[in-house]
Amino acid sequence: MATVTFDNASRIYPGQERPAVDSLNIEIGDGEFLVFVGPSGCGKSTSLRMLAGLEEIDAGRILIGDRDVTDVPPKDRDIAMVFQNYALYPHMTVADNMGFALKIAGVNKAEIRKRVEDAAAILDLTEYLDRKPKALSGGQRQRVAMGRAIVRSPQVFLMDEPLSNLDAKLRVSTRTQIASLQRRLGVTTVYVTHDQTEAMTMGDRVAVLNAGVLQQIDSPRRMYDHPNNVFVAGFIGSPAMNLIEQTLTDQGVQFGGTVLPVDRATLSGTDQNSVTVGVRPEDLELAGEGEGLPVEVDVVEELGADAYIYGRLAGSADTAKPFIARVDGRRPPQKGETVHLRPKQGHLHLFDVANGQRLGD
Ligand SMILES: Nc1ncnc2c1ncn2[C@@H]1O[C@H](COP(=O)(O)OP(=O)(O)OP(=O)(O)O)[C@@H](O)[C@H]1O
Ligand SMILES: [Mg+2]
Repeated sequence: MATVTFDNASRIYPGQERPAVDSLNIEIGDGEFLVFVGPSGCGKSTSLRMLAGLEEIDAGRILIGDRDVTDVPPKDRDIAMVFQNYALYPHMTVADNMGFALKIAGVNKAEIRKRVEDAAAILDLTEYLDRKPKALSGGQRQRVAMGRAIVRSPQVFLMDEPLSNLDAKLRVSTRTQIASLQRRLGVTTVYVTHDQTEAMTMGDRVAVLNAGVLQQIDSPRRMYDHPNNVFVAGFIGSPAMNLIEQTLTDQGVQFGGTVLPVDRATLSGTDQNSVTVGVRPEDLELAGEGEGLPVEVDVVEELGADAYIYGRLAGSADTAKPFIARVDGRRPPQKGETVHLRPKQGHLHLFDVANGQRLGD
């Protein structure tokens, strides 16, 4: 087992001006499950491939434990990788697929058999060891791919969207299995996904990337309650946080007909008269007419206990952006109705309009 350190690590692809990964600084603890998340093209796979040694590092360093592996070839880094397209060898049995890397490495047959059987027991694959991959379900194949990584007992597991070939239901059960397996094995794991729910449910910590730049690295709870900037605020959470620009007065933030008291002294760094207000759908409540923001309801999504209303700020020019609120599922407003919404006390996020950084606490 080992720690992993990205020390100002950058990757600039040939012919590109901007780095795909820009001065990445992360320290991953021994046994930690770290998830990289972010939109398509933000540099998640590149970061992982840099750690794997599959991508050159143009500046900075990468360490596994105390060892600088920046110039160490992939096979000597003591890592095992599970890819999205985990292509099993179709003509080989499950056992041979799992043991293949060990065979190439010259490990003796008895040792291979033992390690494969141990991994199969952990992954609940014992009864399938003699089958060919085509006679397995998608979830079982995915576990064989995990098994190939486990038998090597590496210092670090690297996984790049390993669940994306599975259907939605299987993804949910498999992500729980992977997370619990990782905790049992205690092997430092770096996992890539574009799915923020996957990231939040699996990671000890989550690293959000955007355009090659690390935006925030924190526990899922902290990330949700305390996004560092507008990008993280909008990316983490489903449905997304509402983000709107509102007037800042001496009394606080003007939120439609309601003034939300804010101590301006805590908003150091901004002297502007407006502020980006973030409020999560579950932190809004229905208010009387004249209070809060008037929202015209477009869609009501009923989920039983709760309902989400998707509406538009009445009178707002920004009609493309929906305003979303969670309401009591037993008494939801109707489509076409105008409701008044205000944030619950203490659930506001404030961001600088100019640079998107979090203000205050
Ligand atoms: N071999 C390459 N040559 C040039 N540019 C590349 C190469 N590979 C990736 N890129 C670019 O680098 C950026 C980061 O790519 P990367 O594959 O790391 O994104 P990602 O976050 O994994 O995205 P996705 O969620 O779509 O898999 C993208 O803009 C991509 O177009
Ligand atoms: Mg990728």
